[in-house]
Amino acid sequence: MAYDLEQFIADCRAALARDPGPQGREEVRVRLERLLANPDFVRDYCGDDAPKGVKILYEDPQLGFQVLAHINEQPRVSPPHDHGESWASYGQATKYTDMIEWDREVDRADPKKSELRPAKKYRLNPGEAGIYQDGKIHSIDYPAMARFIRVTGVDLDRIPRLRFDRETGEAVPMTSRQAS
Ligand SMILES: [Fe+2]
Repeated sequence: MAYDLEQFIADCRAALARDPGPQGREEVRVRLERLLANPDFVRDYCGDDAPKGVKILYEDPQLGFQVLAHINEQPRVSPPHDHGESWASYGQATKYTDMIEWDREVDRADPKKSELRPAKKYRLNPGEAGIYQDGKIHSIDYPAMARFIRVTGVDLDRIPRLRFDRETGEAVPMTSRQAS
């Protein structure tokens, strides 16, 4: 039987209950790739008939993690940002997402100043998932009709997060729901 959303959620629950740290989240990432290899899932949740925008497919009442479908129509380049005290895994369903992971170095003499340097650049193609652990800063860049499934440790709208100015490295609080 094909690997479906129900099985994926059960596996996420088991993995994160056993190990809520980086290893448990890596298991979520691996299983997300398995879910995205199921064409029925991609068609049903990320196909032409899927509702546009961001849809919460599941929120775990005990562990708090969320599974979200990002059904994008317009292209977008996000600012570099973190996921607060949470983590996030992004799994590509259609088209692609160009990812940049950033290193941020704070000026010791003036903590208000900091420098952002791209540390890793790669493209997530359909069926591929990335993981962004505690405090990791990334930015995303995708074309029109790029769709992805995102799993987050908690509802990111409920926690403080930061986005960063690419040029100055300045941190700015981020509160609104964003596909990032
Ligand atoms: Fe993000």
